[in-house]
Amino acid sequence: MYDLTAFGHWFCALFFDFREQHQGIEMITIIGCNKGGAAKTTTAINLAVALAEKGADVCLVDADAQRSASRWYAEREASEKKPQITLIEKRDNISATLRSLDEKYDHIIVDVAGRNSRELITGGTVAHQIIAPHQCSQLDLDTMVELQQQIVAIRDLNPELKVYCYQTMATTNPLLQGNERHEFLEYVSEFDALTPLQSVACYRKVYRDVMSLGLSVIETDNLKAKEEVMSLYHEVFGC
Ligand SMILES: Nc1ncnc2c1ncn2[C@@H]1O[C@H](COP(=O)(O)OP(=O)(O)OP(=O)(O)O)[C@@H](O)[C@H]1O
Ligand SMILES: [Mg+2]
Repeated sequence: MYDLTAFGHWFCALFFDFREQHQGIEMITIIGCNKGGAAKTTTAINLAVALAEKGADVCLVDADAQRSASRWYAEREASEKKPQITLIEKRDNISATLRSLDEKYDHIIVDVAGRNSRELITGGTVAHQIIAPHQCSQLDLDTMVELQQQIVAIRDLNPELKVYCYQTMATTNPLLQGNERHEFLEYVSEFDALTPLQSVACYRKVYRDVMSLGLSVIETDNLKAKEEVMSLYHEVFGC
């Protein structure tokens, strides 16, 4: 004889535990900055899969005419890889689209183009957070001046917007790592609108390899890359 009451309690506990894990963290996250090739799409697709792996209903918005995220997604769809993610493409003024997607999905991850894009500005007015990937190279760091100005303007309309700087393609050389990180943090500290993340993505070939396979690095056996993505996931989604 099954104890239905005990089963009922167990099921409710599980259900509410699941809801708690996903309640209050739903948000629109834009991966954007003003530098091409800083790892925006890479960060977007890896975070989208990390969220989906944890059971969230994720919509990845490709707001870049280059369509890198869409091409990654086409590979994923063709191989019927789970967990499934929804992808939509939207350009120009994306604010109304993001608002309406926010009603339907647990998480919206937006991949924008790399140069003062209209999508970064319009998306920023309704987003909860922007993650801005930057390499520790002078050319990347120089673009933070423009980002700071954009954030100040966007916050006039969206004062709660959080903006994080994420160091990408960092060196794996232990002799250089400390100095490089120090230089990155020193530079970000000059911009009060930008908060540096503790998580860092190092330069690893696996990040390149997965792009053409429709996969995330967390779906590979590269533990270091996986750890980097999960560290970012925990830091920005707090779960
Ligand atoms: N941590 C990493 N290690 C090694 N290669 C990386 C890493 N992150 C990204 N890449 C590679 O760097 C290149 C640029 O990355 P990505 O396309 O994500 O940048 P992006 O900011 O989206 O560029 P764009 O401005 O053109 O949209 C890609 O070839 C990608 O595979
Ligand atoms: Mg891109």
